[in-house]
Amino acid sequence: MEFSSILNFTLLFLFLASSSNAIDSITPNTTFKDTGDTLVSFGGQFELAFVNIGSTGRYLGIRYHNYANNTVIWVANRNTPLNDTSGVLSLKPDGTLYLTCNTTSLSAREIWSTNVSSSNAPKYPIARLLDTGNLVVVDLNSGDNFYGNYLWESFDYPGNTFMPSIKFGRDLVTGLDIYLSSWKLDNEDPSEENFSYNLDPFGYPQLFLWKGNQIEYRSGPWNGQTFSGMPYLQPNSIYTFEFVMDEKQIYYQYSLIDSKLVSRMTLSSKGIIITWVWDKEQED
Ligand SMILES: *[C@@H]1O[C@H](CO)[C@@H](O)[C@H](O)[C@H]1NC(C)=O
Ligand SMILES: *[C@@H]1O[C@H](CO)[C@@H](O)[C@H](O)[C@H]1NC(C)=O
Ligand SMILES: *[C@@H]1O[C@H](CO)[C@@H](O)[C@H](O)[C@H]1NC(C)=O
Ligand SMILES: *[C@@H]1O[C@H](CO)[C@@H](O)[C@H](O)[C@H]1NC(C)=O
Ligand SMILES: *[C@@H]1O[C@H](CO)[C@@H](O)[C@H](O)[C@H]1NC(C)=O
Ligand SMILES: *[C@@H]1O[C@H](CO)[C@@H](O)[C@H](O)[C@H]1NC(C)=O
Repeated sequence: MEFSSILNFTLLFLFLASSSNAIDSITPNTTFKDTGDTLVSFGGQFELAFVNIGSTGRYLGIRYHNYANNTVIWVANRNTPLNDTSGVLSLKPDGTLYLTCNTTSLSAREIWSTNVSSSNAPKYPIARLLDTGNLVVVDLNSGDNFYGNYLWESFDYPGNTFMPSIKFGRDLVTGLDIYLSSWKLDNEDPSEENFSYNLDPFGYPQLFLWKGNQIEYRSGPWNGQTFSGMPYLQPNSIYTFEFVMDEKQIYYQYSLIDSKLVSRMTLSSKGIIITWVWDKEQED
């Protein structure tokens, strides 16, 4: 079948020609475009890419890389979808990540950007995706590394997904509240609506589920081991929990005991915390 092998060759060639451009970091000289560019974490666990979600549009998102259904765990422009493939992610010399597109419907072409807290201009800002799923910006010149001291990190803005090692709670120095907020429609529309879930650090620390500005549920105070009304946050064989409370911060964090397991917790569109756990080896 001469014809079919020529056809196969052509398809293969087209596939190679359009195959994605995987990079490992973003600097002020990089343009990260919605034409197949991807940023993969060093160990290959997570990927930053432009993705379709439901039928609402295209988003810059972080997803599992070739496992767990490539589920999206974080979305940058959650309230402003792109309607075409003109999206470009860039890094300003001051360490700010920003997303632009070619639009005539909006007054600004910049549809999303990060806030950088540092007052000193970084010398060599660089963005990388860590194997935890955290997108971080660091200043390589200031002796910073990829284990802390970030100019910015996506784990400070978790959307609807609580991942292992996110510090869910409050930075008492900067006032930053790291909380969950539900998607309008799970798997379909990431825009922020209607539920949020946060840790109130004042008085006896307590978890609150909000619907808009109404309290739907309160956990009861931390009793030294767990929040009284939160059975799934009890110590168990899959996770360890850590509750850190000092003069600088109050947060709640979990990590997996078995590295073969993969997990995330999500605040669903109906205001329910769902815990996902699966065995990576069985899935592969
Ligand atoms: C960007 O490119 C310029 C010119 O090629 C180079 O001098 C500079 O070091 C680059 N900056 C980064 C952050 O890579
Ligand atoms: C992947 O999708 C299938 C089908 O929807 C579902 O049954 C399975 O639980 C999903 N797996 C993960 C890890 O989300
Ligand atoms: C895409 O379309 C939606 C719905 O019309 C609109 O709200 C949004 O602003 C558009 N996005 C851009 C980047 O123009
Ligand atoms: C932006 O969109 C306009 C109108 O569709 C088009 O003429 C122009 O070439 C586009 N610019 C870029 C940089 O894609
Ligand atoms: C940046 O800071 C401003 C003012 O504090 C706030 O309104 C905005 O939501 C922040 N943006 C992000 C992406 O966090
Ligand atoms: C969010 O709340 C408003 C007001 O209660 C309601 O009309 C809307 O349907 C809710 N949206 C979702 C996705 O449940």
